[in-house]
Amino acid sequence: MIQKASDKVGAVLVVGGGVGGMQASLDLAESGYKVYLVEKAPSIGGVMAQLDKTFPTNDCAMCTLAPRMVDCGRHPDIEKLIYSEIESIEGEVGNFKVSIRKKARSVDPDKCTGCGECVAHCLVRNIVYMDRPGREPVQMEESMRVKVDDILDSYRGGPEIIVPILHDVNEEFNWLPPEALLRIAEVKEIPIEHILRIASFYNAFSLTPKGKHVIRVCTGTACYVKGAQRILDTFARELSVDVGGVTEDGQFSLETVNCVGCCGQSPVITVDEDIYGYVNQTMAQDLLGKYT
Ligand code: FES
Repeated sequence: MIQKASDKVGAVLVVGGGVGGMQASLDLAESGYKVYLVEKAPSIGGVMAQLDKTFPTNDCAMCTLAPRMVDCGRHPDIEKLIYSEIESIEGEVGNFKVSIRKKARSVDPDKCTGCGECVAHCLVRNIVYMDRPGREPVQMEESMRVKVDDILDSYRGGPEIIVPILHDVNEEFNWLPPEALLRIAEVKEIPIEHILRIASFYNAFSLTPKGKHVIRVCTGTACYVKGAQRILDTFARELSVDVGGVTEDGQFSLETVNCVGCCGQSPVITVDEDIYGYVNQTMAQDLLGKYT
C-alpha cells in the first residue's frame, strides 16, 4: 500500500525523559513537530538527576540537566506523559498508533501545588501509622519503650529537635520502628505526619528494618565503569538477597549508593561506616567473612 502524505501524522513520540529524551524532544519541537514525551518515572530527568558530576569532564550534572527540564516543562508543543508506559505500537512508518497507560497517581495533577502533604498522608505507605484507632496509648514492648523514652528525655523542645531524636532512634534500632515514631509523636505532641515527612526525606533514616551490617555498593559513574555491577552481583549472589533487601538471618542489608566521594579508588563499597576501595570479587567475598 502506498503511503499518502495526507495520512502522515505530524507528531513525534519520544520514549524516555532522561537528558537525551528531553534534548530530542526540544529539537523536534523547535523543528515544528508536536512531541509526546513518555516517561515511566513520576518526573522527567532520568538518572542524570541523581548525579553530582558527569564523567569524564566533571561538569555539574544539574547545570546540564536543569535548563532542559525547564525548557521541556514549559514548551507548549511538548506534551509530557510522565508516570506512563507504552502498551502497544501499531502502524507503519509515518503513521503509528500508540497505546499509553497512565499509572494512577492518586492526586489531581491540575490541582497539585507540590506541597508534599499527600506523601505524609499516603494511606498505602503509612498504613501502619494511620490504622490505629483514635488516640489510644501506643502499644510497644517495654524494652523498646524504655529506650525510646530515654532518648526523648535527653532532648528538650518540640518539632525543632526531631532530627536528632530520629537519628538516635535510628542508631539504636538500626531503623525507625513505627511504634517508636508514634511514641515520639505522643510524647512530644508532634503530628505523626510531620515526623514521617522528615523521616522519609533523609536517606540516613530507614522506615524498614535493616540488617546488622549495611553493605552499600557505589554505582556512581566512576565506580560503574570500573565494574561496580559485578561487585553488586557478587554480593547479591553470595547473600541470596536482592538490592534493597535484608538477608534471612538479618545479618546484612544490600544497597547501592551514588558516589561516596572516593572516585579515585573505584570501585568503592561501604560496610556500615567503613569504606573499601579498589574492590574486586574476591575481596567482596572476603569482606563478608570479616563481618559475619
Ligand atoms: S563514583 Fe565516586 S566513589 Fe563511586
